Amino acid sequence: MSAERNSVLHSWCMQSQWDAPTVVGGAGARLHLEDGRSILDMSSLAECSNLGHQHPRVVAAIRAQAEQLCFVTSSWGARPRAELADRLLELAGFEDGRVFFTLGGADANEHAVKILRQALGRPRGIVVARDRSYHGSTHLAMALSGDTRTQALVDPDAMRVSHVEPPYAYRCPFGSGNDAECGERAAAAIAERIDHLGRDQVAAVIVEPNAGSNGIVAPDSYWPAVRRHTADRGIPLIADEVMSAFGRCGEWFAWQRHGEAGRPDVITLAKGLTGATVPLGAVILSGDIAARLENQVLDTGLTYCGHPLACAAGVAAIAAYEDERLIERSRRLGSTLRQALDRLAERHPVIGDVRGGHGLFAVLELVTDRVSRQPLAPWPQTPPPLKALLAAAMAEGVSFGSRGNLLLLAPPLVIEEQDLAAALALLDRLLAKFFPID
Ligand SMILES: Cc1ncc(COP(=O)(O)O)c(C=O)c1O
Repeated sequence: MSAERNSVLHSWCMQSQWDAPTVVGGAGARLHLEDGRSILDMSSLAECSNLGHQHPRVVAAIRAQAEQLCFVTSSWGARPRAELADRLLELAGFEDGRVFFTLGGADANEHAVKILRQALGRPRGIVVARDRSYHGSTHLAMALSGDTRTQALVDPDAMRVSHVEPPYAYRCPFGSGNDAECGERAAAAIAERIDHLGRDQVAAVIVEPNAGSNGIVAPDSYWPAVRRHTADRGIPLIADEVMSAFGRCGEWFAWQRHGEAGRPDVITLAKGLTGATVPLGAVILSGDIAARLENQVLDTGLTYCGHPLACAAGVAAIAAYEDERLIERSRRLGSTLRQALDRLAERHPVIGDVRGGHGLFAVLELVTDRVSRQPLAPWPQTPPPLKALLAAAMAEGVSFGSRGNLLLLAPPLVIEEQDLAAALALLDRLLAKFFPID
């Protein structure tokens, strides 16, 4: 049992039931446990270790930065901060924009909203967000999230957040049986909500362009339509790319799959930005938004804004994605993953839907039967046979990610191809064992 069992307050679980092994090291897609076992990580921990564990180039950059300068506040300059901001603006094609650095994803989203409210001069501006979304667990980020985990503790209305239905094509909230149409209807729902609230009352729309821990991968029709509707109404669009960026969906940023038709006004980042080696988040602002702030005092700040150690890790992480061609690799392996999951779905009727695969992020939704599409357990409960499958996989040295009746496959982009194939073969065997066909 882990040494922290009785002393640490652990996230998203019942304290009395927390029981997990201690990790002492890692390399590539593998984690090394205190008991000597090696575990293949099929979820990049929290979909964040895109570069695998202990990437040597990032570790060396952190070490070198620590020896030179560990910390300086944002009221002074720091070389790695300048370099990382330039790289992010270049990768996003926002050359005349600016970057605000945070400590993670939730505060990146909070700052995106605060900064937009200030830039638009709408301090009480409403933010339109989506059901079945996740934007983090600080207070405003929780209110932005349309997630069963968060809505018990916050009042979105009080925080000026308005939720609309998601582009959940498998269970289309608009009753459409056509994926593209469902995506368009969900985007139109955002436009209708803005019009209903009044354009001058709305400060932003925030959406995850692709992946998310709620397992919805929007149809391709969705994001460009959201962009079009928000641009027509003069409402800034925030792309929450905390999970979907840095190759996870086969591009630097998932919106880039749609080209210029998908360009948002603001991008929020964390996780893959440093490959999760050091906590860091970022808010990338377009030139238009940045220009509005140029001659006013920015009403926000964090002690650790653009921490040099984290920024040095970010610069090295970007160099590693580039030199190892990991974005392209994720696109190629994502397609392999998708084909393998489609083949699994042919053999296992418990798989109701397969989603994703633009990069190394895919979702299996498990159902009682394909006709009724009834979830294997009421959302967001994890069905007992899936719990048993996850435990059996772990006993065989593979850790899969899951949420409710969803299996989330998001291995590090550096995963060896034979390891990916072995993990999928194990999944095939365990699906047959825990979900036998009568
Ligand atoms: C899309 C998205 N946004 C925001 C967050 C919150 O990021 P953090 O946990 O770094 O605060 C997450 C975390 O999973 C996420 O997936």
